[in-house]
Amino acid sequence: MERNNKKITIAIDGFSSSGKSTMAKVLARNIGYAYIDSGAMYRAITLFCIENALIDDSGNVNETELERRIGNVSISFEVNPSSGASEVCLDGRNVEGKIRGMRVSNLVSKVAALPFVRRAMVAQQQQMGASKGIVMDGRDIGTTVFPDAEMKVFVDASAETRAHRRYEELKQKGQIASYDEVYRNVCERDHLDMTRAESPLRKADDAYVLDNSDMTIAQQNAWLMCLYNKIINQ
Ligand code: CDP
Repeated sequence: MERNNKKITIAIDGFSSSGKSTMAKVLARNIGYAYIDSGAMYRAITLFCIENALIDDSGNVNETELERRIGNVSISFEVNPSSGASEVCLDGRNVEGKIRGMRVSNLVSKVAALPFVRRAMVAQQQQMGASKGIVMDGRDIGTTVFPDAEMKVFVDASAETRAHRRYEELKQKGQIASYDEVYRNVCERDHLDMTRAESPLRKADDAYVLDNSDMTIAQQNAWLMCLYNKIINQ
């Protein structure tokens, strides 16, 4: 099919560990777009809270102090030269390896529910996508960050499937966690993300739904590419 030069905005939202990032990365690479993992930004802010003793193990945040300091926290992305993947940096330090473990996973949805944190991240995300040609994944990309995105996808899969995928991913990376702990975390984050007051996780009315419970990675990539081709050639 002839490639159209028109640049669009692509928003991929969905439940935790649904495979959004995997498919978003591949699509962005195949079509020459930038890829932004918005969840990595919330994870990096959570790491900032942990490292600066602004959060306790129950997720209680010192909001006054975080709000005072958040304007000076720099979140950026850099490309890993060997893998080609974009990795998140906190105040110029690559923290990709630190943000995926259970400590951050257990606290991130509490931090991400704070309205002033969301405002700061959404403003940065909108700036990153200002000239289109971007694939961004997260929870509120099609509803809040880019409500006018030309292509919106909402990804779902059963909680068990998603917990198995995340458990295998953590095992491969040598991060220690039991399946039960991962399953509990997936369910708890889903609940917190859907019930928070500020831009909760929900499907945008004009999003295409992809349930990839029984799909291989190759199948989901093909599904996404096919949708992109349909939209870009409309
Ligand atoms: O990859 P995984 O599904 O585990 O989650 P993530 O995309 O890394 O996001 C981590 C957490 O950040 C989510 O559970 C949400 O609480 C929060 N998040 C958000 O609130 N809004 C976004 N746009 C992206 C993530």
